[in-house]
Amino acid sequence: MEPFWETEYLNIDRSTFGEPSKEVVDILPFLKKDAKILDVGCGDGRHSVYLAEMGFEVDTFDISENAIKKINQLKQKYNLNINVVRCDVFGFDFKHRYDLVIIHGVLQFVEREKQSEMIHLLQKWTAKGGYHIIALFTDAEPVPKDLKDVMVGVFKEGEIKDYYSNWDIKMFEIKKFKDEHENGVKHCHAMNKIVAMKIEE
Ligand SMILES: C[S@@+](CC[C@H](N)C(=O)[O-])C[C@H]1O[C@@H](n2cnc3c(N)ncnc32)[C@H](O)[C@@H]1O
Repeated sequence: MEPFWETEYLNIDRSTFGEPSKEVVDILPFLKKDAKILDVGCGDGRHSVYLAEMGFEVDTFDISENAIKKINQLKQKYNLNINVVRCDVFGFDFKHRYDLVIIHGVLQFVEREKQSEMIHLLQKWTAKGGYHIIALFTDAEPVPKDLKDVMVGVFKEGEIKDYYSNWDIKMFEIKKFKDEHENGVKHCHAMNKIVAMKIEE
């Protein structure tokens, strides 16, 4: 079954996942004006579009054709400084290191055996003093039935912290919330969020 967001991405007038998340808004004062930003699995761009509107140049990618089409339409409509490509992290052409990498609501859709390589690759391409902002779903709640085919990589509670043991963890949060997808499927999500700064090579 196609994930619900694919049809949502066809609507240019509405952000599928709403407003930018608080931790992305909160990090802005800590970024230099010319900070290099990467939005991994950008969806229809609630973070990329917001950051571009705030004056940053943003690199971004997603595997969804509909997402890329929509970002390109938004780019044109609002004249935004966003470089967008359709690929996954292993196909992305890294040209420099980033000051901020956002991986919001993506890692649970990546197969378990690829997650470690993906996170380490993104860490490698992060500048010293740069940040990672991650939100992911854990196995503390069952996978919603409409996402069973795609949500193949749910994390264990707190597991993401192990990847950042030699980073400065600025924030770690465990939360649960009720959700209803646009297709009417009601469920509960268990989420872990982490904000961490790279302190050594
Ligand atoms: C729940 S949406 C979140 C979108 C966005 N990050 C946000 O917070 O609004 C998940 C997105 O991850 C993308 N995605 C899933 N697996 C991916 C992968 N391996 N590489 C890049 N994008 C991926 C999907 O296409 C989808 O657009």
